[in-house]
Amino acid sequence: MTVHPTDHPNLDHPPGKADAILQRQRARESSARTYARSFPIVPARAQGMTIEGTDGRRYLDCLSGAGTLALGHNHPVVLEAIQRTVSSGAPLHVLDLATPEKDEFTDALFATLPSSFADKARIHFCGPAGTDAVEAAFKLMQTATGRRGLLAFTGAYHGMTAGALAASGGVTTKQPVPGIAADVTRLPYPYSYRCPFGVGGEGGAQLSAQYTERLLDDPNGGVVPPAAMILEAVQGEGGAVPAPDAWLREMRRITAEREIPLIVDEVQTGVGRTGAFWAVEHSGIVPDAMVMSKAIGGSLPLAVLVYHEDYDGWLPGAHTGTFRGNTLAMATGTATLQHVAKEGLAERAATVGARMTARLEGLRTELPTIGDVRGRGLMIGVELVDPEGEPDACGARPFAPQLARQVRAACLDRGLIVELGGRHDSTVRLLPPLVITDEQADAVLDRLADAITTVTAPQFTGVQA
Ligand SMILES: Cc1ncc(COP(=O)(O)O)c(C=O)c1O
Repeated sequence: MTVHPTDHPNLDHPPGKADAILQRQRARESSARTYARSFPIVPARAQGMTIEGTDGRRYLDCLSGAGTLALGHNHPVVLEAIQRTVSSGAPLHVLDLATPEKDEFTDALFATLPSSFADKARIHFCGPAGTDAVEAAFKLMQTATGRRGLLAFTGAYHGMTAGALAASGGVTTKQPVPGIAADVTRLPYPYSYRCPFGVGGEGGAQLSAQYTERLLDDPNGGVVPPAAMILEAVQGEGGAVPAPDAWLREMRRITAEREIPLIVDEVQTGVGRTGAFWAVEHSGIVPDAMVMSKAIGGSLPLAVLVYHEDYDGWLPGAHTGTFRGNTLAMATGTATLQHVAKEGLAERAATVGARMTARLEGLRTELPTIGDVRGRGLMIGVELVDPEGEPDACGARPFAPQLARQVRAACLDRGLIVELGGRHDSTVRLLPPLVITDEQADAVLDRLADAITTVTAPQFTGVQA
């Protein structure tokens, strides 16, 4: 069934305006433009899961600001927090001075954290991007341990500033920056479908843990004691790859036994996205530090590092920055954290996510271009493959990046925004807001199924997006 987006001519925006804006931005913005390349739309309004373009077309947004919009666009509690704060006359910019909004945000955030972590935690407000909180975490642990190196995983994504980029897995973004990956030891993440050991499943995850432990203990293994290990409990940009809980517990044991601080990057997994408020809750591990951003700001930019007080050996000003006191973001963040907790939206993400994943699994048995369906909660990945290609040792067929681009474009034609991720950008990622309704979830899957079916039909001539 083909589902077309509703056309709603918007008289505020005359026809042709969108094209003119797109053209000017193409001409003036850097060649590093990212999402604007894949989605040639000009959003004019947004509410909940729906974005409306200046041309009046409507889209279901399954990208949600790369996982930022836990409550979707312009949620009433977020708008109310903005209006209340603005009309109170509170200063919008305060460096890192104490404010009631910061105090309330800290209370609200700590109330969501596992008490085993929160009870002895310190918070540092960072520059307003996940990548700055990652940098802060590295500096904190390097200062505390007096060591330099980092342990990071294949498929990881931690951001674009120097340290975070070094810890990330993507070769294409690192290659043009000479020397960027110095001092990072790369370890195999348990990616079951394309297992680095060619084994898959729990066996592959066990091998990853064994390899890590033996490498760290090998006096000739080449790894000097590192300052920290950083990992994502579910890799986001890496293609919605969840690590088994047992593997996470092994990483916690291995690092604790060797006095290596464990940093868990919850920038994308946090605030209910994976079906628990924080992804560490599934395995029960207590990290030494957690990096948080995206959804904690309730649509506005905010990033924090929370860590065990024992590591608090920083000198004043050790990780400073001008924009660490965004009053509005703290107010919208507080409102969002409290709303997600009060409405049980993490549990809702687990339920809807399980339903969506089950339906996608069914689709996988019908459509041979779907190689793998995976994820946790509302962080779902659909890996597309070449069904004619030779399977590898684990049965995975070759990546299908062109097909994935065609599916993304066909989804957009059907009024659905989905982004790609994972190796060779072959995985369609679904990151809907936690407030997605059952009807919206069905509409997302109808449109995605229709897009994949159309693009893989023999007569399809191709959208070379
Ligand atoms: C797990 C993870 N860490 C860090 C970052 C970097 O965050 P930012 O883009 O806000 O710098 C991202 C962004 O996608 C992320 O997914």
